Amino acid sequence: MTAIQTALEVRPASAFPVERIRAEFPILTLDIGGKPLVYLDNAASSQMPQPVIDRLVRYQTTQHANVNRGVHYLSETATAAYEEARGKVRQFINAREDREVIFTSGTTDAINLVAHGYGRKFIGPGDEIILTTLEHHSNIVPWQMLSEEKGARIRVVPINDAGELLVDEYQKLFNAQTKLVGLTHVSNALGTINPVKRLIALARARGVPVLIDGAQAVPHMPVDVQDLDCDFYAFSGHKLCGPTGVGVLYGKAALLERMGPFKGGGDMILSVTFEKTTYNTIPHKFEAGTPPIAGAIGLGAAVDYLSAIGMDAIADHELDLLEYATEQMNRLRGVRIVGTAANKAAVLSFVIDGVHPHDVGTLLNAEGIAVRTGHHCAQPVMQRFCVPATSRASFAFYNSMPEVDALIAGIRTVQKVFA
Ligand SMILES: Cc1ncc(COP(=O)(O)O)c(C=O)c1O
Repeated sequence: MTAIQTALEVRPASAFPVERIRAEFPILTLDIGGKPLVYLDNAASSQMPQPVIDRLVRYQTTQHANVNRGVHYLSETATAAYEEARGKVRQFINAREDREVIFTSGTTDAINLVAHGYGRKFIGPGDEIILTTLEHHSNIVPWQMLSEEKGARIRVVPINDAGELLVDEYQKLFNAQTKLVGLTHVSNALGTINPVKRLIALARARGVPVLIDGAQAVPHMPVDVQDLDCDFYAFSGHKLCGPTGVGVLYGKAALLERMGPFKGGGDMILSVTFEKTTYNTIPHKFEAGTPPIAGAIGLGAAVDYLSAIGMDAIADHELDLLEYATEQMNRLRGVRIVGTAANKAAVLSFVIDGVHPHDVGTLLNAEGIAVRTGHHCAQPVMQRFCVPATSRASFAFYNSMPEVDALIAGIRTVQKVFA
């Protein structure tokens, strides 16, 4: 019996109500050039269910005003809804306190916040930052910019041919100069799920704080920041069935309090004179200017929606999709999966002999199938596997087994065109 047969036996396809869930996503009913949309670009951005859209409409039509600044009804209502969303996110990731949840514009913004707020204050000449080969550019470039400014150095954890981090090599990189570890929870390019809890424990044993880039983890599995014991955890709303323009930085309160501010402006201050500014308490110290109010409220609705389905059920369904898709793809001659870690999220990067990934994406689009092609903002991963680019199908809980079949049929069509 194959792995997928075993999985389906243990978890019959009907156990997860995928058709009922799909009916709640208006965009999934689209036809693209006369073909039903098969949306497999969820690692780039996920789609939004009707309850989240409804919440945004309710906010815009009955609650909108600027937060924190007014005594009038709408301002107080918007402030309460915004802070309620902070509480929902806190609960979703099991942070200890609401003030440990900072709303940002996304994962990129959250990582830049740490690079400025923590990095500029605590990282100096000769210090070292440990990153991994698997990082998205947004967890590389901010640290390079900081290192150039401060004279610090980046050390990189290598990966094996399956796309798994080499934990022994990781341990060897620590020394007295190590000031921070920046580590992705799940690789967006390969789907590798890193053993973050273990890697965090190894860093903490040496007194080194750890930032986890959780952009590809939070939408697909339960995440408990207290259990992980990470110092920072960053993710984006738009990959989590929420709106664009909002994201989250979780940080341990004691560390956030010691950090410098990131952006200067309104709301992040207690008092301002031309001689001196004193800063607000956390989280407001890191939320300068008008925050993404609608975005945060929409994100609150999104985490409610996901929690009602259950992150364990979501992870199980996506694992079924991954196993089935992997098995089907492995049967195709001339197709190679890039990234074969033992512990993977539902991301399938692949290359087809003799066909440029860009052509794969274009021909699949003609079949109504949306995949991403390119370097996925992870050029070091592409360099490691000696490919300029891959095609990437990335699944969400609203994807179905027939959509996997459509992808496989689409790849066969691509191969026929290039035969
Ligand atoms: C692992 C990872 N980190 C960071 C990002 C950046 O997220 P955003 O563009 O929402 O800031 C992405 C986006 O694809 C990602 O996959």
